[in-house]
Amino acid sequence: MTGADLTGRRVLLTGASRGVGRAVARRLVRAGADVIGTARDEQLLDEVARAATDGPGSFVPVVADLTDPAAPGRLADVVDQRWGALDVLVNNAGVMLARDERFEDEPAGTLEETLAVNLVAPHRLVLALLPALRAGKEPQVVHVSSGAGTVAGMAEPGIGSYRVSKYALNGLVLMQAAQLRGQVAVNALDPGWVRTGLGGDQAPGTVEESAFGAMALLAEPTSVTGRFFKDGVEIPF
Ligand SMILES: NC(=O)c1ccc[n+]([C@@H]2O[C@H](COP(=O)([O-])OP(=O)(O)OC[C@H]3O[C@@H](n4cnc5c(N)ncnc54)[C@H](OP(=O)(O)O)[C@@H]3O)[C@@H](O)[C@H]2O)c1
Repeated sequence: MTGADLTGRRVLLTGASRGVGRAVARRLVRAGADVIGTARDEQLLDEVARAATDGPGSFVPVVADLTDPAAPGRLADVVDQRWGALDVLVNNAGVMLARDERFEDEPAGTLEETLAVNLVAPHRLVLALLPALRAGKEPQVVHVSSGAGTVAGMAEPGIGSYRVSKYALNGLVLMQAAQLRGQVAVNALDPGWVRTGLGGDQAPGTVEESAFGAMALLAEPTSVTGRFFKDGVEIPF
């Protein structure tokens, strides 16, 4: 299933500069997809582009800060000029800005800044890219969520703003899946707890495992929508 052939699939991937996104970019290119990868760090994106030459697909870096309200429109313009349509949006960029045990100890503004990247940007991106997705082939949106934002996760201590942002993102997935049913498949992916800047050094998993889960979800038919997957297996919201 994860050896899926994505030849010619046109993908916009956010958070492509490092961590999970970087590994997903590599897998996509190896599977034949044409990828526009975006993030803020130009140098890291260029490194990904140089490394992603070992497959039949392609990787084009586009620098954007997703907290800039103009960014989704600019990315949609890049997609339009390059392809005139989009088959896959992988909304992977995310931040965890505070790790305090109690939400009341988080620095002021943590929730607002977290929501800007983890919830508002995905919403604006889908809005801006809807015409391109509707013109795409078997269009899919994957929102990269987290086990931290499940109903069960909300009862766990720590990372309060992050948990709330991913819980809200799961709500966005369910709403978009319902309202776009029959047009665009929208699903959530839990990439697992893996070693990245966000996941930390103590995480048990690797970004390659996350990329495996992403590829498994992208191999699902577009009739699969409004669901949550981890490692190729459906999990509860
Ligand atoms: N690692 C884990 O254990 C884990 C577990 C569950 C869920 N997740 C989720 O998986 C996704 C990827 O996480 P990760 O672990 O790979 O994190 P990471 O290594 O910290 O990478 C985050 C990515 O998001 C991009 N990004 C952050 N803020 C941005 C902004 N304002 N504009 C544009 N891009 C921005 C970063 O690029 P620049 O800094 O270059 O902009 C980077 O490419 C996130 O949604 C995260 O919540 C991760």
